Amino acid sequence: MSTEHILAIETSCDETAIAVLRKNEAGLTVLSNEISSQVKLHAAWGGVVPNLAAREHVKNIRKILELSLAKARIGKEELDLIAVTNGPGLIPALMVGVNFARTLAYLWEKPLIGIHHIEGHIYANFINENLADFSADIAFPVLCLVVSGGHTQLVHMEDHLRYEIVGQTLDDAVGEAFDKAARILGIGYPGGPIVSELAAKYAATTNKHSVSFPRPMLNKKNFDFSFSGLKTAVLYEAKKNPGLLEDQEYAAAVCHEFQQAAVDVLVAKTLKAAEKYRPKTVLLAGGVSANRKLRAQLGDALKKDLPGVSYAVPDLALTGDNAAMIAAAAAFRWEKMTDAQKKKALEGWQTLGADANLRLE
Ligand code: KG4
Ligand code: ZN
Repeated sequence: MSTEHILAIETSCDETAIAVLRKNEAGLTVLSNEISSQVKLHAAWGGVVPNLAAREHVKNIRKILELSLAKARIGKEELDLIAVTNGPGLIPALMVGVNFARTLAYLWEKPLIGIHHIEGHIYANFINENLADFSADIAFPVLCLVVSGGHTQLVHMEDHLRYEIVGQTLDDAVGEAFDKAARILGIGYPGGPIVSELAAKYAATTNKHSVSFPRPMLNKKNFDFSFSGLKTAVLYEAKKNPGLLEDQEYAAAVCHEFQQAAVDVLVAKTLKAAEKYRPKTVLLAGGVSANRKLRAQLGDALKKDLPGVSYAVPDLALTGDNAAMIAAAAAFRWEKMTDAQKKKALEGWQTLGADANLRLE
């Protein structure tokens, strides 16, 4: 069975996303990558409300499918495989995508496979910058720093689709910490992009404030993280200085120190893990991989301390939740499947379930 064209669906959180990917000798080509974001809707609540997210997915998913097929300029008969994020994530949200994918697979008689959301984020790295051609530069073993709103993990990969989690957060994910810090400062949601923008502005000013936060877990021997203390440090700072919320410059100083503390720990732990696991390539993945400070500081540190190791980051357009990354992971999964497994995927519409706590394996 060939897989010229893969249709992928992602609804694990607050983006309704559908993409079409073409896979051939030239590599992977994203033909369409449609995303309908609900960020504005959830901003009023300061975070994603699962049932609201599900309702919006139901409202939008058909339109996104039509747009995605139209942009890719292909009909359903040209699709060879359907892939859908089946976990982890918010269960009401996941179920919309999974049930939609099952319906399509049944009606159109296509094989259907489930993809782990984080596997998708990792495989965004295998789609190169101009959204065309498989990137051949990524040599294994790989060490991937996964940083999103729900995950902070160091993942060691001996080969494609083989994952060993060598470190992870013991409490909040780093993206969650950015979001919570922004909420404490009253500067908006989602916090990551806003905090990093204020931090960059602050870095460019000469008027300095003295704000100093801890670097949690920095000196621990393992590769685990902890970000809830950093969030608490922001809370104490806000309490200590009640005028903080009005003083934009002071808030920017807090953002700058918060981001620097988070990035220092992420970079130091990644380097430590790289020294132990000796990867040929270090990757960044997940929503927080859009953070320019993190992208640059990790790159500089690797160049200085481990010059033999190559470093890849996903295209900025593919750092947040999208379905092209799910299709890319599906392309690799399909290639590794046996004929019997591929045949079984034709029954995927009957069996595929959503799992809020799906494990990466
Ligand atoms: O991967 P993602 O889109 O969704 C999940 O799978 O969680 O990640 C979303 C997270 C949010 O916490 C958001 O604040 C954070 O990524 N984020 C950033 C930046 N852009 C998005 N964090 C730091 N700096 C950024 N530039
Ligand atoms: Zn994500």
